[in-house]
Amino acid sequence: MIVVSCSHGIHLGSRIARRLKAGHTALKASKFPDGELDIRFTGSPRGKDVVLVQSFCGDINELIVETIFAAATARELGAKKITLAAPYFPYFRQDKRFRKGECVSLHVIGPLFDRYFDRIIVIDPHLHRETTLKHVFRKPSLRLTSNPLIADYIKKHFKNPVLIGPDWESYKWARKVAEMINAESSILEKTRYSSHHVKVRLKDKINLKNRTVVIVDDIISTGHTILETIKNIRKLKPKRIVCICVHGIFAENSLAKIRNAGALVVATNTIPSSVAKIDVGRLLTENL
Ligand code: R5P
Repeated sequence: MIVVSCSHGIHLGSRIARRLKAGHTALKASKFPDGELDIRFTGSPRGKDVVLVQSFCGDINELIVETIFAAATARELGAKKITLAAPYFPYFRQDKRFRKGECVSLHVIGPLFDRYFDRIIVIDPHLHRETTLKHVFRKPSLRLTSNPLIADYIKKHFKNPVLIGPDWESYKWARKVAEMINAESSILEKTRYSSHHVKVRLKDKINLKNRTVVIVDDIISTGHTILETIKNIRKLKPKRIVCICVHGIFAENSLAKIRNAGALVVATNTIPSSVAKIDVGRLLTENL
């Protein structure tokens, strides 16, 4: 087996290879003067099980091209089997035609990756209207969850917390993690008006006064969901507010905005960042 870190997989790829005692190389990716990508393998994939590690954050669309080019090249160079370990996989939220004429990106991205990979591993995909990865990819796929890791982190760092999920979809993280550590939890009701406009409201009567409130969600992107949740929770006078997410995309400077709102932020390292304190490396390694 050989582990190949793509441009946004380096933070996990080398450690995965070390744990597996497998070879590791970083994909060489640069650009031609006209902006086209130039990618190159530095070790030979011939006859090997190749694991490409890529986290789709930042310039997602460019990374998609890079990853597909890498898989196609590995195949052409004689790889036996090609696995994609994508701790954060993009476009899962675009799972229906929200506006007339819009692309349902999830239905495009699945078949595209199917064509080039033999197996796809994803951590906590945002499955909503599609409920299983089998509806997204035809090739064998594996859906892992970081919930036990988040549960351990909370248990280790916070005493007697209350867990809050900002919307009903977040029960898969907030409520499940709460169950693992026997903590109280509550799921809020969210209405999304646009990418930048959401409203949340508390449904349950819950006493948060002087408590440590841990908001748990799968994704923090623009941060509007979390900021709105913090605003509502503040009214109930908690002692401290912590926000934990699986995938810290932190678009539009949202990390700073959430910190300015007085909350501590923690994420897993499915996407690298300064707050990526929960390591998913072992989880990926154990499932390769
Ligand atoms: C939505 O259903 C997700 O679970 C997150 O709550 C959402 O993607 C967060 O997005 P943003 O940070 O832009 O509000």
